[in-house]
Amino acid sequence: MLLILENLKLKQSLCYLVEIDTFEYKSYNMGKKLFKSVDKYIGKLLGAEDSALKGTIKAMKEADIPAISVSANQGKFLQVLARSCNAKKILEIGTLGGYSTIWLGRALPPDGRLITLELEQTHADVARLNIIKAGLDPIVEIRVGKALDLLPIIVKEGIGPFDMIFIDADKPPYPEYFEWALKLSRPGTLIVADNVIREGKVLDNNIDDDKVRGVQKLNKMLSENKKVTATIIQTVGSKEHDGMAIMVVN
Ligand code: SAH
Ligand code: DHB
Ligand code: MG
Repeated sequence: MLLILENLKLKQSLCYLVEIDTFEYKSYNMGKKLFKSVDKYIGKLLGAEDSALKGTIKAMKEADIPAISVSANQGKFLQVLARSCNAKKILEIGTLGGYSTIWLGRALPPDGRLITLELEQTHADVARLNIIKAGLDPIVEIRVGKALDLLPIIVKEGIGPFDMIFIDADKPPYPEYFEWALKLSRPGTLIVADNVIREGKVLDNNIDDDKVRGVQKLNKMLSENKKVTATIIQTVGSKEHDGMAIMVVN
């Protein structure tokens, strides 16, 4: 109950920020239902999960891993992006159970390579099994540790530049992840960062939440950094309202 109240308080303060009244707030809730239904519609048509993807979600539930993977349609979206830049080498920061890894890995040719970074050994163990079941183990490598420790090693190893980089780990260091992504890029590299809108909480400049502060800082960097051409798309549907920053390295 307290959680619901807290959430409502937050929504109300956001309503105030974007200057919508009670009627519009009701429409917003109707809109959310519609977004969910349309997401289902798109998913049925174009975002079908096979047994490996369904099994990944199931294995995560069984291992008590939080249900914060990208949605099926978002996974498909990442796959389309990876295909459109003809990706052969992909870097992912934040593996969780390997759900987005599988969508991305399936965009790669048989001689492609995907490196994914994960802090939690338990997440990595579950992801490894899921990736094997998806038949992607020959091209996917999970590295376990703090991304900020692993990224300099990848630079030193000279594995880059990557064709696509997906940033989706903890939110406070997003600005640093972006800087490392640039170091591992070439002109034309596509960098995508998940969760940069957080139900509109990014509108609140006084917010006391270091996750939101991290993505706010990244979004501001994108507006000032001449090294990338960037935009943000809002994501709605089965997951909470959020957004993905999408940028191409100049
Ligand atoms: N990309 C996944 C979701 C990732 S959730 C998907 O859509 O399927 C974020 C993941 O980042 C979690 O598994 C969390 O353990 C991991 N993480 C958190 N802090 C990290 C850090 N400092 N370095 C690497 N991974 C981290
Ligand atoms: C969280 C992390 C994510 O990557 C996501 O897509 C949704 C939520 C989280 O840490 O709460
Ligand atoms: Mg995410």
